[in-house]
Amino acid sequence: SGVAEKLKLMNQMAADDMARMTDSETAGFVELYGRYLNERSKKAEIKWDLIEQPSENMLQKYDTLEKPSDDQMSSLLSKLAVLKLNGGLGTSMGCKGPKSVIEVRDDTTFLDLIVQQIEQLNKSHPNANVPLLLMNSFNTDSETAKIIQKYQDTNVTITTFQQSRYPRIVKESLEPVPLTHDGCAHEDWYPPGHGDFFQSIYSSGLVDTLLAQGKEYIFVSNVDNLGATVDLNILKNVVERDVEYCMELTDKTRADIKGGTIISYDGKVSLLEVAQVPSKYIEEFKSVSKFKVFNTNNIWVSLRAIKRVMQSGEMKLDIIVNNKEVKGTKVIQLETAIGAAIGYFNNACGVNVPRSRFLPVKSTSDLMLIQSNMYTLKSGSLVMNPARQFATTPVIKLGKEFKKVAQYLERLGSIPDVLELDHLTVSGDVYFGANTTLKGTVIVVANPGNTIMIPEGSVLENKVVVGSLHV
Ligand code: UTP
Repeated sequence: SGVAEKLKLMNQMAADDMARMTDSETAGFVELYGRYLNERSKKAEIKWDLIEQPSENMLQKYDTLEKPSDDQMSSLLSKLAVLKLNGGLGTSMGCKGPKSVIEVRDDTTFLDLIVQQIEQLNKSHPNANVPLLLMNSFNTDSETAKIIQKYQDTNVTITTFQQSRYPRIVKESLEPVPLTHDGCAHEDWYPPGHGDFFQSIYSSGLVDTLLAQGKEYIFVSNVDNLGATVDLNILKNVVERDVEYCMELTDKTRADIKGGTIISYDGKVSLLEVAQVPSKYIEEFKSVSKFKVFNTNNIWVSLRAIKRVMQSGEMKLDIIVNNKEVKGTKVIQLETAIGAAIGYFNNACGVNVPRSRFLPVKSTSDLMLIQSNMYTLKSGSLVMNPARQFATTPVIKLGKEFKKVAQYLERLGSIPDVLELDHLTVSGDVYFGANTTLKGTVIVVANPGNTIMIPEGSVLENKVVVGSLHV
């Protein structure tokens, strides 16, 4: 196509790496872009009548999985590699650099906790040698390379590789941005979503490297999901049932409207995302009664199967169009998601896991819970405080004044005791003194122009604080 030619030309004339795409990137982008242009006019709608509930084999209950015996554990673990999706930045929480280097508990970062978890596994199973892989993006690669030096003396082998970097597309002309003006800027490019994992790990050569080391499965998850620890019951199940792709899903609550769900479509296991749902069925999709579970993005995949599927060139993941504005110009970026790949693998299935395997930190509200006395740390894993009376965790909603980690830290004298909290809403210019205790439902609203300071040591139980009053 014309764009393929132009990109080739751009590569030849490139003054530096910023303007140059690798062969794999060029091929990947040209395929995605071409498919986007084609599908724009004639996208096949999903046929609602063909959707059925997943069978028990397609969606297994976690409780029914067998636990491996002690001597099975090491041999299972020796087949495993762990990968964290590390392409994202900490910008939405007001942090510079990769999201994985945000300090989540005491002085430890996401990455520190992950390394601690695998360190512990490798210590308890000395023959397993579970390696850690990080899929970086061009946004996170150099920073991550510096940071991981501190893990040199651990028993964890860390390997990084960079995912693809594609050109953004001008919305109006549908031309790739770097082709539309002279020179090349950082913001002309983007990492094309975690569906890019398959292409990027395959073209890095790491699939073969891992297979040669005797690794058979890779456990992939979001770097900001602190619940995504290595689970031996799931590993045993995928290995013994020869499952090539296993997705962990957890029970949906009314707050979880975002994630995709597993369905049987035309008799085949498949993922249904909100973007695919015809508008008249959106409410039905969001309801928790029909579609009961959603994707945690914890995914177990057979390395041999990745190799086969990528060699065949058949993987064409659904395109997610992400609209952005860069320096006043409307652009789109074409992305794909790892969950969409479920249909390309044999014996693919889902496991319905407990909520504890999905502890994402997307906001400072999530951070407050993670840092609170709701959890304790054990070898890098979060364990829910047994003193909590309910199985569920509190719902915390901090206002925009708390959005950045720095603001959040400034507004909290210390993390409140939330052991008996159900619901917290905070809005406006609010400060909490040290050692406060929150119980039941607590709402604190400072009206515009007012400040609320919750004094040190306060106990707020089922309380609404409004205006500028001091408690
Ligand atoms: P996000 O933080 O963007 O995801 O990335 P989200 O808002 O939960 O939504 P989903 O999961 O995309 O639906 C999730 C993880 O994927 C990584 C991020 O670093 C994060 O760990 N990621 C995302 C990449 O590694 N590359 C990408 O291109 C996009």
